[in-house]
Amino acid sequence: MTFDTRFPDGFLWGAATASFQIEGSTTADGRSPSIWDTFCDVEGNVINKDTGDPACDHYRRMPQDVVLMKELGLDAYRFSIAWPRVIPTGTGEVNPAGIDFYSRLVDDLLENGIRPFVTLYHWDLPQVLDDRGGWLNRDIKDWFAEYTQTVVSHLGDRVTNWTTLNEPWCSSLLSYTLGHHAPGHTDRVEGLVAAHHLMLAHGTAVPVIRENCPGAEVSITLNPTQVYGPDNPTDADLDAVRRADDALNGIFFGPLFHGAYPQSLLENTAAITDHGYIHDGDLEVMSAPLDNLGVNNYFPTRVKATEGAVHPLPGGEGVEETDPHPPLTDMGWEISPQGHHDILMRSAQECGLPIYVTENGSAWPDEVSEDGAVHDPDRTAYLHGHLDAVRQAIDDGADIRGYFAWSLMDNFEWAFGYSKRFGIVHVDYDTQKRTVKDSGHEYARIIAAHHG
Ligand code: FCB
Repeated sequence: MTFDTRFPDGFLWGAATASFQIEGSTTADGRSPSIWDTFCDVEGNVINKDTGDPACDHYRRMPQDVVLMKELGLDAYRFSIAWPRVIPTGTGEVNPAGIDFYSRLVDDLLENGIRPFVTLYHWDLPQVLDDRGGWLNRDIKDWFAEYTQTVVSHLGDRVTNWTTLNEPWCSSLLSYTLGHHAPGHTDRVEGLVAAHHLMLAHGTAVPVIRENCPGAEVSITLNPTQVYGPDNPTDADLDAVRRADDALNGIFFGPLFHGAYPQSLLENTAAITDHGYIHDGDLEVMSAPLDNLGVNNYFPTRVKATEGAVHPLPGGEGVEETDPHPPLTDMGWEISPQGHHDILMRSAQECGLPIYVTENGSAWPDEVSEDGAVHDPDRTAYLHGHLDAVRQAIDDGADIRGYFAWSLMDNFEWAFGYSKRFGIVHVDYDTQKRTVKDSGHEYARIIAAHHG
């Protein structure tokens, strides 16, 4: 099948990873435990009781992994920094060995012509800070600003693309309300409070980056999802869509880009909180101007109105989540290029900024075949479909500047441990052998064709 590789000039092709998912070496060189190390230790939290070791042993194999990126022809690489490596005590002293790892990574990338896109926080909060309340403690805005200052003062001379947070929805509602991610709480109000403090930390860090890295692009990555109701929706269905959309999308779009939470979210959560965690002036801090928006998107969300139903997300009264429409990936996630297109258009309209697709991809039960290759036609089809959706969104007026495949390589998929494979490169966790999958070869071909 031939695939149309015409994208705008300068469109960036990348791949993404995150520190805890690939690095391993969780106790090396002074790194302290993160909330994910703690979470993994509790039976039942992670499939097979998998942990952050060995992951892809990337902490020790970093130079070879950069060579692999070069071989794929990547223009850019999105990675995150492990706060517990850089400041093991959460606040205070920098750990030279920790920051040096990322400094070497940045140098290696630049030497190979690959632009680093650095995310400051992709969920591995130092456990010592969770012991002080984590994202529920308002002081975290200052802890995060201090950590940001430390990182940008060491890497800001070379890094031009900064992202404060990855998917704050996951670090708040998925982690403090739904309990699926660390620290595994299940409280409706806590999710709202954590979301607020994440936005506040983000907004406090933005000027710190700007002061240290004049000219750099500053961003945040959200995971918005298109919410669809049933065909021919009733008024109640439309209300369910609105409630779900508020708790999934509006809760971040509002503070970041409109200086206010959606009024309907405030009204629909008034029964559970007086919103006392929102202080005067907070929204101004949270809406600090950005240069672009990162969008991670994998699937749409479907809901309908059901009398008496209470979705666990805040404001979820009367909302029932309905089954995804097949085909599904190995995660059980709906494959919907249309949903990808629609949420890109929505995001562009909400933020009025250039967009990077900072994550998109699919999990499949890949195996190395007897011929030594990894044949993953489903991932290639997903890639084609979603790149087509990106191009369609560009044609429809969205200013999309690049696409990052999730993920560069198979890795620790959070609560699913090593049981789900998202890589365009296969990792054998016993030998740490990397094998470029067929989809990875196809991605390399697309990149090469685009660059002509
Ligand atoms: C996103 C996360 C990323 C990865 C993918 C599959 O929500 O940002 O770390 O786990 O999902």
